[in-house]
Amino acid sequence: MSTHLPRPLSVPDAIRRRRTTKKFKPDPIPEATLKELVELTIAAPSSYNLQPWRIVMVSDPAKKAALTAAAWNQPQVATAPVTFVFAVDLRGWEKTLEQTLKTGAELGAWNEKTIEYFRTAIPFFQKSLTDKLREYPIKDALIAATHLALAAESLGLNSTFMNGWKEEEVKEVIGARDNPDIAIALLMPIGYGDGSYGNAGRLPQELTVFQNQLG
Ligand SMILES: Cc1cc2nc3c(=O)[nH]c(=O)nc-3n(C[C@H](O)[C@H](O)[C@H](O)COP(=O)(O)O)c2cc1C
Repeated sequence: MSTHLPRPLSVPDAIRRRRTTKKFKPDPIPEATLKELVELTIAAPSSYNLQPWRIVMVSDPAKKAALTAAAWNQPQVATAPVTFVFAVDLRGWEKTLEQTLKTGAELGAWNEKTIEYFRTAIPFFQKSLTDKLREYPIKDALIAATHLALAAESLGLNSTFMNGWKEEEVKEVIGARDNPDIAIALLMPIGYGDGSYGNAGRLPQELTVFQNQLG
């Protein structure tokens, strides 16, 4: 398999070209491209760098069929060579915090004082989330998914952001049926689109963008 990556599009070009893709060609994604996509996805920022995402790449035919059924038989999951399931672990940080702090220190990003502060502040903040316990890690996962969509576009691939699926069934597919700490943020099929999609356009900015206060 070729390790050659296509010349990437610039970020503005990738943003402008990205379109929701409902049907993919069967062409597989080269291994080197997939590896690059994963690295760019998890380069996303997250609250306190806790990286709550747990990303499952579904490509196995039987799993893909089950995921398609969980997504109301939407054709993009059925046809994409791989669908990224963005799950989150609501309490994963409890197990990974020390590793996160150690990495930040080793890379010189955080000094001893910052580490000591984080060691107290992070558990305090996380425990104060209460009814936002799902919302906060899901925000992080959606940022990572946005990285993936733009990275894919930049490398000549296409994507679809997806809310249309049944959470319990998606959890079953990824082997998390009985785990109450796992929530599903988003599904994102990735592949080479068949080009049969248009630009749905946007509302006029006067309705959605304001200076200083809502209009
Ligand atoms: C969070 C989110 C969830 C979405 N869920 C679905 C979905 O389940 N199925 C689908 O066909 N499109 C889905 N879409 C795609 C939107 O319909 C699409 O982004 C919108 O029409 C704008 O088109 P564009 O992505 O080509 O700019 C979703 C988009 C977002 C951002």
